[in-house]
Amino acid sequence: MSRYIYGIDFGTTNSAISIIDTSSNKIVKTYSESSLIFFPQLKNSRSSLSYFVGKQAIEKYVENNMQGRFMKSLKRVLPRSGFKETRVYNRKFKAEDLVCIILKYLKEKADSFVGEDIQKAVFGRPVVFDEDPEKDQLAQNRLLKAAKLAGFEQIAFQMEPIAAAFTYERLISRDETVLVADLGGGTSDFTLMKLSPSKLKRPDRKEDIIGQGGIYIGGDNFDSSIMWNKGTYHFGRGLTYKDFETTVEVPRSFYHNICSWEKMNFFDSLKLQNALDKFYFLTDKNPRFKNLVDLIRNNLGYAVFQQVEKAKVNLSERENVNFEFTHNGIEFEEPISIEEFSTEIIGEDLNKIRSYLLDFLQKSGVSPEAIDTVFMTGGTSMVKPIRDFMIQLFEEKAIKSGDNFNSVANGLAYSHVLFFNEKDT
Ligand SMILES: Nc1ncnc2c1ncn2[C@@H]1O[C@H](COP(=O)(O)OP(=O)(O)OP(=O)(O)O)[C@@H](O)[C@H]1O
Ligand SMILES: [Mg+2]
Repeated sequence: MSRYIYGIDFGTTNSAISIIDTSSNKIVKTYSESSLIFFPQLKNSRSSLSYFVGKQAIEKYVENNMQGRFMKSLKRVLPRSGFKETRVYNRKFKAEDLVCIILKYLKEKADSFVGEDIQKAVFGRPVVFDEDPEKDQLAQNRLLKAAKLAGFEQIAFQMEPIAAAFTYERLISRDETVLVADLGGGTSDFTLMKLSPSKLKRPDRKEDIIGQGGIYIGGDNFDSSIMWNKGTYHFGRGLTYKDFETTVEVPRSFYHNICSWEKMNFFDSLKLQNALDKFYFLTDKNPRFKNLVDLIRNNLGYAVFQQVEKAKVNLSERENVNFEFTHNGIEFEEPISIEEFSTEIIGEDLNKIRSYLLDFLQKSGVSPEAIDTVFMTGGTSMVKPIRDFMIQLFEEKAIKSGDNFNSVANGLAYSHVLFFNEKDT
């Protein structure tokens, strides 16, 4: 039996794999990669389908002049019961087949590091994949199927924020009551836990978990809101045309679609292009609507979202940023201030996260003063208005953060003691 076990954090935006050496209980390596897949267009009907993952997916997307299928935020597909499969050129993929591509990629990297085929892993899952318990179960089942397809035999699941708590626990020298806030691309997850340096190897930590909860809002929602508020105008949102005597707005559904990766991943672009051509003529060939036609025709969804994300990330450092996009004749620039971002653009989501957290604390029977440390992790924990309200709720000195992108994977690897018996290793 191998002495290595993996901790695997399949994230909405980023995924990571940590390799733990169970004989020393030390993490020997962590690999992370963006959760992206790109399928280049087929050269002809007989050629076989190829794909690229992560950074390479972006490189190949650009190299192939954006022709092909680009997929992002696939974790959000897991709880969607309406999603059965998607055809990518000559192959059909179920949700687990798509997720398997990313898991396999990580497994191969880690296996070649240890020089073995490791089949034992602790996988992370958000506290809520979905509020509907059936859909939540569906999501975990699909993740389990994906893990098996990727070659894992012994599979355990751990809540992502609990994993992050275990990573933080390695850093403390006294007992602490800790709130972990894992703010990712898809979800904002919370765990209240009693941590202690003396409990690092305990196989059962149930009684230390005071509460856990999560809300299905994350950085992806902020990107969608930036796109909706600042981008869609440039693609013709609000344009009208005459239908006999009545003035009609072009369908809003176009704009909802281009703001959501759940939709964009599975566009039937030919059907969409035909619909768009019709409205392009109805709007008297409006140049803003032409941008939408060109966006879909040239498959520029991911290229726009890279700019959206860049604007958001820059807002973590600066008060004023520009969201700009120049591609295939589409050209626009939109200034965004931090004030506008935190109120009009993401204000509603911020309020939801904030009230969820307050409610969660109240239900757990723990007041903010009783919390020694707030451990913030995940990329969205860098969003300034989020930091601001956390500082407002808790004392600034109580707020700590670690490695925003690897804390969960590392903690999943440390979680092996909870699931796998030393004797099996
Ligand atoms: N500097 C930054 N400022 C603001 N947001 C950021 C920054 N860096 C990354 N992000 C955002 O953080 C999110 C990704 O965070 P993370 O990698 O923790 O998510 P994830 O683990 O993939 O998602 P989840 O845990 O919800 O499945 C993305 O929405 C990304 O745009
Ligand atoms: Mg995460």
